[in-house]
Amino acid sequence: MGSSMARACANIALVKYWGKRDRNLNLPAGGSVSITLSSLQTTTRVTFDDGLRRDEMVLDGEPAAEGVRSRTGRFLDLVRTAAGTHRFALVESHNSFPTASGLASSASGFAALALAACRAAGMDPGWDGLAQLARRGSGSAPRSLLGGFVELMPGESPDGSDCLVRQVADPDYWDLRLLVVINGQSEKEVGSTEGMELTRLTSPFYGEWLRSGSADVDAALNAIVRRDFRSLGQVAETSCFRMHAVALSASPPLLYWNAVTVDAIHKVRALRKKGLEGYVTIDAGPHVKVLCRASDSEDLAREIREVPGVERVVIERPGPGAEVIE
Ligand code: DP6
Repeated sequence: MGSSMARACANIALVKYWGKRDRNLNLPAGGSVSITLSSLQTTTRVTFDDGLRRDEMVLDGEPAAEGVRSRTGRFLDLVRTAAGTHRFALVESHNSFPTASGLASSASGFAALALAACRAAGMDPGWDGLAQLARRGSGSAPRSLLGGFVELMPGESPDGSDCLVRQVADPDYWDLRLLVVINGQSEKEVGSTEGMELTRLTSPFYGEWLRSGSADVDAALNAIVRRDFRSLGQVAETSCFRMHAVALSASPPLLYWNAVTVDAIHKVRALRKKGLEGYVTIDAGPHVKVLCRASDSEDLAREIREVPGVERVVIERPGPGAEVIE
């Protein structure tokens, strides 16, 4: 029996991934740049056990829904094939944040699962191998393997061997914060996988979205290297709004925002005019995240909490990469 426990933090993309070049291998069509967070994290134990007749999964102390259990099982099939074993596993996973809240639980989830499952199966595929594996679970998961500021390169090779992640800067490099603004609505209507496929197949602007993305990656990397906060914030907003614009141009349209999302965007823009500088980014859900300097984070959080419908504002800092705990 092999058992291992690993931890990984959620990450938020400043330059977004929205579209796949290969659905089977789950290869992204474009590059992305993210910040790994510090306290929104997943801890997962994987135990391979001869006594099990199928993979079992416990999520936050409850048996996982069948869809989640079988997605995890399909992922473990990849580990079993690589390790040459047929044993099923018990997966016990805990999120430090609400699971279906649209707060990137699949990224931290599959990063922690990839690491724990490989160790439990007695494998050490290295970080590149882990990134290849984690990506099969979720396209944003490889970014959660590394800490701080991270780039995911889409690569060109059909087998995905050049789709890799690299750390652009470590967590202590730059004193930035991401405010995670949690508003009422929690369930995603259309998940990322389905949403990006619908966009690819039906949006007349999909090609332009991909074409403009690589300039955004370059601009973000450049801004990080120069510690140019305003440029990084501006490119993050550009990438976010273009992603939502292309999603809205799908048929049927994908609208991930609610009224509180829009009010929070307006609030951030109004505060910026007054000199409190924050930049928004939004994923496939209603929650707004705000990139800001550490010195402005408390004031911004206090102001944004005033927006009716905002439940909570969590102040996150650049956090660590995934690690084996046991
Ligand atoms: C909007 O990684 O959840 O958060 O690869 O299909 O699992 P799959 O998608 P996922 O998509 C993340 C989309 C995003 C933008 C981003 O994180 O880059």
